[in-house]
Amino acid sequence: MDVIEIEGLTKRFGDVLAVDNVSFKVKKGEIFGFLGPNGAGKTTLLNILVTVLKPTSGTARVAGYDVLKYPLKVREKIGVVFQDITLDRELTGRENLWIHGRVYGVNTSRLKKRIDELSRFIELEKWIDVQVKKYSGGMMRRLEIARALIHNPEILFLDEPTLGLDPQTRVHVWDYIKRLRREHGITVFLTTHYMDEAEKLCDRVAIIDHGKIISMGKPEDLTRQIDREIVYVRVDEADGFKVEKMFKALGENGFVEGFRMLEDKTLRFLVDDASKAIPKIFEVLQGFKVRIREVKYSKPTLEDVFLQLTGKSLREYEAGFVEHVRLYHRRR
Ligand SMILES: Nc1ncnc2c1ncn2[C@@H]1O[C@H](COP(=O)(O)OP(=O)(O)OP(=O)(O)O)[C@@H](O)[C@H]1O
Ligand SMILES: [Mg+2]
Repeated sequence: MDVIEIEGLTKRFGDVLAVDNVSFKVKKGEIFGFLGPNGAGKTTLLNILVTVLKPTSGTARVAGYDVLKYPLKVREKIGVVFQDITLDRELTGRENLWIHGRVYGVNTSRLKKRIDELSRFIELEKWIDVQVKKYSGGMMRRLEIARALIHNPEILFLDEPTLGLDPQTRVHVWDYIKRLRREHGITVFLTTHYMDEAEKLCDRVAIIDHGKIISMGKPEDLTRQIDREIVYVRVDEADGFKVEKMFKALGENGFVEGFRMLEDKTLRFLVDDASKAIPKIFEVLQGFKVRIREVKYSKPTLEDVFLQLTGKSLREYEAGFVEHVRLYHRRR
């Protein structure tokens, strides 16, 4: 059964086409990820689905209800965690959950139980009566997930659920999300610009760039499209001219294709067989008197899929982004 159905959805802000004729469906119980760089249109699309923004054209049905015709019905069926933290920091965790539950009309005896249950689920029992301003970013995010679940929604929407969190906390949040699906059959729609989040957490992923879906499928099917191995060689050479020459020399050796210099002085190659290619790469680079700092190879990731489709690295977008993350995860 499809619980999210989107057809030709478009959103324009003046000259900006934030969401461009997007169509897809999400099945009940699926963890579906929208992966894309800054400004790709992820939040805009999510905001349309959760009925806080109206589309310019196209249709969207969530839990069987048209978002334009039955926004209140949709809201009953969904839980939402927005990109920016929206907790009241002066209140305790319990108070935040309580207010939200009452707004959703959960009766008080039921709500009391539900808060206990959920604070156990997100492992914040000890903190639940502490003011939110004393929480870490990860604890706030967990509390927001609990808050979104307070009225037992069928579909959970998460906008960048682990943005700016440390790796350990991120894995923790992934575990909660997987458990929600496993134990309660909840459908999860999330946006992310983290490759590993899309790959490790999502059953299906839509890769979005400039408002358009450029590829969609199971992560393993998307990466399988690149029938190659990826070799990374980090050198201590920053001179662009020399790097250009190195690439040319490597290209002349036949096996190298799709190379690219990433910002951290890493040369990246798509090769048929990494074990054969690496000695040859060493040999060629030796002629350029550069020092090789690190060599690694891997199967293609979603990052490579994105790079192949757009010619850009998702990571290249992240400059300027760190500041943005820091700003709103900063404790007040
Ligand atoms: N209210 C608005 N008014 C005008 N332009 C907007 C508005 N909201 C978003 N945009 C523009 O629409 C595009 C998509 O923005 P959106 O926030 O949906 O991207 P995103 O993929 O969520 O990015 P991020 O990773 O930064 O959260 C951007 O070009 C953005 O500047
Ligand atoms: Mg966003």
